[in-house]
Amino acid sequence: MNAFELYNPTKLVFGADKVNRLGELVEPYGKRILLVYGGGSIKASGLYDDVLFQLNGINAVVHELSGIEPNPRLSTVNKGIEICRKEKIEFVLAVGGGSVLDAAKAIAAGALYDGDVWDFTIHKAVIKEALPLGTVLTLAATGSEMNGNAVISNWETKQKRGLGSKFVYPKFSILDPKLTYTVPSNQTVNGIVDIMSHVFEQYFSLTTDIPLQERFAESILLTVIENGEKAIANGSDYDARANLLLAGTYALNGTLPNGVTTDWATHGIEHEVSAIYDIAHGAGLAIIFPNWMKYVYKERIGKFVQYAVRVWNVDPNGKSDDEIALAGIEATRAYFTRIGAPATLGELGINDEHLERMAEEATQFGPIGSFKQLTKDDVVSILAASL
Ligand code: NZQ
Ligand code: ZN
Repeated sequence: MNAFELYNPTKLVFGADKVNRLGELVEPYGKRILLVYGGGSIKASGLYDDVLFQLNGINAVVHELSGIEPNPRLSTVNKGIEICRKEKIEFVLAVGGGSVLDAAKAIAAGALYDGDVWDFTIHKAVIKEALPLGTVLTLAATGSEMNGNAVISNWETKQKRGLGSKFVYPKFSILDPKLTYTVPSNQTVNGIVDIMSHVFEQYFSLTTDIPLQERFAESILLTVIENGEKAIANGSDYDARANLLLAGTYALNGTLPNGVTTDWATHGIEHEVSAIYDIAHGAGLAIIFPNWMKYVYKERIGKFVQYAVRVWNVDPNGKSDDEIALAGIEATRAYFTRIGAPATLGELGINDEHLERMAEEATQFGPIGSFKQLTKDDVVSILAASL
């Protein structure tokens, strides 16, 4: 097991109607609030009114930034930074899915930085401080509610990049499974795939003798596989939504990578696809991940055999390791297809035009991944297999 440090200061407030705790959770941080949200789902669901009721209850001065895009854009983040500076904002409150949370994190860091917030994503500057922020999450997917990461897109240059810092962990995140009842089926599917992909990135590792981390990962996968289908069948199934929500948080809150060398190549590749084509992150992952698996499984076939047997109940009797591993990968593909996720880039209208460029961008700082280090040519092969 590798040496590691674990730090996670986010307070989780989980359960039905917990938005009623919002006022008292915000109050210690000040009265001047920037409320950040997306394209209107929180107004349709009534959550917006509940949030304002809470903020009015503490006599907050509320400024708003709405219209955060899925794949949030740098230009929108900059608008938020401007409001923070002009209105002397003391606390940023994100209400929505991962995109809203990520935009809020970038705003919180950018507001206290003299340069361009994009600098943080290209390692030109390091985040040294940020406004405090909190979240009310409405979609199980990214884990942004309990981590220090954000992903934003520069639409002008067609680049999608991440930033990360201990300063942008939410002070609190409110997770009410009922708030996810209205998530449409396709976004529920994207979330399921994203959660499973976060586990894959940390599970398919060359680090050995890590039974606890492996079983943590497998338990999240089994929970998501089972409850994902239930949540798709009945969007108002409280327990299914709750289990999905908690699984999403644990998949990317720093629990799984403890002592483990993680991979993250597939996320790097997907970000290049969504940077150019603005597709949903989960949809891109559903297409690329099984192809990554097929490309790399021989690097440590035992891990894929374990995955097939423990997660997909593949019967190993009478089969070679190769057959077992491939059966596990096929089961992954079949599950994604069964829940309605796309299987090819072609289904999203993407052809081979930009394969080279995407591979070039993904590997611009050198080979990516650790299970198998991928060069530009490897990435082209994986993308070509995904067409
Ligand atoms: O904009 P609104 O109207 O709110 O609608 C959103 C949006 O259209 C809708 N939605 C959210 N909650 C809803 C709802 N609709 C009805 N009822 C609700 N309760 O869903 C759509 C998608 O929302 P979005 O926030 O984009 O989805 P998600 O949470 O999957 O976030 C995706 C973004 O997160 C990044 C992705 O790259 C992508 O940009 N990621 C962030 C990570 C992180 N911070 O750690 C890690 C991930 O790997 C990922 O890269
Ligand atoms: Zn992801």
